[in-house]
Amino acid sequence: MANTIVVVGAGVSGLTSALLLSRNKANTVTVVSKHMPGDYDIEYASPFAGANIVPMATKENRRWESRTWAVLKKLTEEVPEAGIHFQKCHIQRRKADVDAYARSGFPDHAFDANPWYKDIFDDYREQHPSEVTRGYDTGCEYTGVCINTAIYLPWLVGQCLKNGVVVKRAILSDIREAKQLSHTGKPATIIVNATGLGSLKLGGVKDTTMAPARGQVVLVRNESTPMMICSGTQSGSGEEMYLMQRAAGGGTILGGTYDIGNWESQPDPNIANRIMQRVVEARPEIADGKGIAGLSVIRHAVGLRPWRKDGLRLEEERLDDETWIVHNYGHSGWGYQGSYGCAEGVVELVEKVTGSKSKL
Ligand SMILES: Cc1cc2nc3c(=O)[nH]c(=O)nc-3n(C[C@H](O)[C@H](O)[C@H](O)COP(=O)(O)OP(=O)(O)OC[C@H]3O[C@@H](n4cnc5c(N)ncnc54)[C@H](O)[C@@H]3O)c2cc1C
Ligand SMILES: *[C@@H]1O[C@H](CO)[C@@H](O)[C@H](O)[C@H]1NC(C)=O
Ligand SMILES: *[C@@H]1O[C@H](CO)[C@@H](O)[C@H](O)[C@H]1NC(C)=O
Repeated sequence: MANTIVVVGAGVSGLTSALLLSRNKANTVTVVSKHMPGDYDIEYASPFAGANIVPMATKENRRWESRTWAVLKKLTEEVPEAGIHFQKCHIQRRKADVDAYARSGFPDHAFDANPWYKDIFDDYREQHPSEVTRGYDTGCEYTGVCINTAIYLPWLVGQCLKNGVVVKRAILSDIREAKQLSHTGKPATIIVNATGLGSLKLGGVKDTTMAPARGQVVLVRNESTPMMICSGTQSGSGEEMYLMQRAAGGGTILGGTYDIGNWESQPDPNIANRIMQRVVEARPEIADGKGIAGLSVIRHAVGLRPWRKDGLRLEEERLDDETWIVHNYGHSGWGYQGSYGCAEGVVELVEKVTGSKSKL
């Protein structure tokens, strides 16, 4: 039976869901969204991500990230036009930060000693103490990837178009409006809700457990590898230190912040200074030893990660008029590294609900 599907949202979650759904010829897929690749807007998190893969789920929830890694690895090897490259990744842990994460109730398993993800990277190893960045206690390293989001998001759109997906703009005030937005003119039988933080305000059961996890970054022309991801900084909670060099001339992202509940859309110059200062101290060669003055800034930017108190919402729901909604939102800081795993979850839920439908 043909499924008329409308995906709401054109971030990495919506586009990857649309791509995988469009591989089944029984599905007719339309993507509708307020923002599209090419836009830089505070309501649209995806362009601002680094983006790399540093798994942070619990072991029980590892499916999303481990499946995604398998796909991203293959894309990196075989599809250069997707704008992803391999890059060594150093994770640096401070005991004080790891303890603070544990106390906060929102542990980030990226910084676990002996993490589950050591099994998915071919060359994972613990670092010798002499290799760990000054100020940190322990570290590990593996070869991961860094995605140039300015290339990758348009590439995803292109893959969708190739499969016959129709992509168009619309601002929805209620998720139910999606029902009338299929390009086929037929009412949608399935709506995929991939609106990220938009979720908080979108009509039709507003999800008030959503909040922004504000991320401020500095994008510079200067290049530096390997990637470095640190568990925390001396500047208190909410400030982080990381750097990653994007593929294909994408510049190097210097981070950053992870500040839950902060909606400020404008970069804070003091935070920007601290971000750059920390990086040039830990990695002086990025600025030729000249400090911040040795950096060439492309832009200062802020993105709001779609944080959700109870984590990811990937589940089906039936509306009064019998239309199914499949929710795929609340990825906070792991939307890219979980994108394929979650989109596969969307496909499974669509198959499940259409299966139960044909039995009726
Ligand atoms: C600084 C920073 C660094 C990050 N680094 C990484 C990283 O290294 N690795 C990683 O995996 N993740 C990273 N992330 C997280 C990642 O960016 C997000 O998890 C991901 O982009 C979320 O994607 P999404 O598609 O769910 O939401 P979004 O990209 O926000 O997309 C939401 C979409 O829904 C649309 N929409 C919302 N409301 C409506 C409405 N009412 N009507 C119509 N359309 C609507 C919007 O227009 C938009 O197209 C980072 C984020 C930031 C900010
Ligand atoms: C759609 O998802 C958003 C979050 O992205 C949520 O707030 C909203 O309640 C969902 N819509 C419905 C109808 O459940
Ligand atoms: C930083 O990048 C700018 C612009 O590419 C360049 O002029 C400068 O020499 C770079 N500095 C270092 C140390 O690489």
